[in-house]
Amino acid sequence: MKVLAVLYNGFKAAKQEPRLLGTVENKLGLSEWLSSQGHEFIVTSDKEGPNSDFQKHIKDAEILVTTPFHPGYLTRELISQAKNLKLCVTAGVGSDHIDLDAAVERNIQVLEVTGSNVTSVAEHAVMAILSLVRNYIPAHEMIERGDWQVADIARGAFDLEGKVVGSIGAGRIGSRILQRLVPFDCKELLYYDYAAMPAAVQASVNARRVKDIKDFVSQCDVVTVNAPLHQGTKGLINDELISHFKPGSWIVNTARGAIADREAIARALKSGKIAGYAGDVWDVQPAPKEHPWRTMKNTLGGGNGMTPHYSGTTLDAQARYAAGTRNIIENYFTGKPQNPADVIVGLGKYETKAYGQR
Ligand code: NAI
Repeated sequence: MKVLAVLYNGFKAAKQEPRLLGTVENKLGLSEWLSSQGHEFIVTSDKEGPNSDFQKHIKDAEILVTTPFHPGYLTRELISQAKNLKLCVTAGVGSDHIDLDAAVERNIQVLEVTGSNVTSVAEHAVMAILSLVRNYIPAHEMIERGDWQVADIARGAFDLEGKVVGSIGAGRIGSRILQRLVPFDCKELLYYDYAAMPAAVQASVNARRVKDIKDFVSQCDVVTVNAPLHQGTKGLINDELISHFKPGSWIVNTARGAIADREAIARALKSGKIAGYAGDVWDVQPAPKEHPWRTMKNTLGGGNGMTPHYSGTTLDAQARYAAGTRNIIENYFTGKPQNPADVIVGLGKYETKAYGQR
C-alpha cells in the first residue's frame, strides 16, 4: 500500500541531528519498518499546487501522514481526488489542515497523536507570556545592538504577579499552562471553554470559568489561546472582540494563527490597544515574507514575540509523536483498536467534541 507523508525539510540540521525525526530526511523513523513490510513510503515537503508531490501522490495513497508544522492542506477538492485514502494521521496535535467534514463524508479516519506535545506547547506559552509581560525580547535586542537604555525597556516591563491570566480553551494545553502559572501568584486565573475543566484539574489550578467571551477578555491582562481551529474559532479574535480587551493587555496564541484576524491584531498592536502578541502559529504556513506579524510592533517598538511554528516540535515532542504515529499505523495494519483519545474522525463521524462540540 502507498503511505504518503508531508513533512518539513531539515536539510543540514536533520543530517547532523537524527532526533529531528519529523523531517523529510529522517522520515519519522518509519522508513525501514514500512519498506520491510512491502509498503511504498513517499515522503515530501513539496505541498502546494497541482504539480506538487503531495497533490500528485494523494490520488492513490491509502495513508496520509501530515504535521501541523508544515501542513499539507487536505482540502475537500483533494479529498475528492484521493480515491484510495482511508487514514490520515497527524503527527502531532491539531488536524484543522484537513477538511474534517469532507473526511466524515468519505469515511476517511483522522487520528492525532493526542497529548504528544501538549507539555512542549504549554512551556512555550508560559515563556511567551513572561517574555511579553517583562518586555524581554526588546531588552535582549538592545544588548545585541550595543545599546544600554534601561528606562526604554523598563517603561514597558511588568511583573506577572498580580495580573489576571485567562485561557480560551482549557483542555490539555490550556489547563497545563494555567497549572504552570500557579506559582507566579497571579491575581486570578480564568478560562473560557464550553466544557468545564475536570474536577481534579480544576482543584490543581483553582481557575474561574467565565461563560461570556467578551466578559472574559475584559477581565484578563493576558489572554492565551488554546482551542482548536474550527468554524467556531476561525477569526474569533477580531476587531469586535479586541474592542472588549483591557487596554494594554497581551495575547499569546500557540493554538492556530487563523483564530486571530491577521490585520486586526497588527492594528491593535500598533494602536496600543494590546501591548503584545506572541505565538508560533500563522494563518498560513510557512508564513509569507510580508506577513504583518513578522514585523508588527507596539507603540514602544516592541511587543512582538512571534516565532516559526516550533513549540510542539521540540526533540522530546518529536520522539513522542513519531512513536505515536507508528503506533496508529500499526493498529490500522493489524486491526487493533485505536486509542479513543487519538480519534478525531472515526468511520463516518466525529469522535471528539473539541472541534466545535459536535
Ligand atoms: P484539547 O482537545 O485537549 O483541548 C481543546 C479545548 O478547547 C477543549 O477543552 C475544547 O472544549 C475547547 N474549545 C473548543 N472550541 C472552543 C471554543 N470555541 N471556545 C472555547 N474553548 C473551545 O486540545 P489540546 O491538546 O489542548 O490542543 C489545543 C490546540 O492547540 C490544538 O487543537 C492545536 O490547534 C493547538 N496545538 C498547537 C501546537 C503547536 O505546536 N503550537 C501543538 C499542539 C497543539
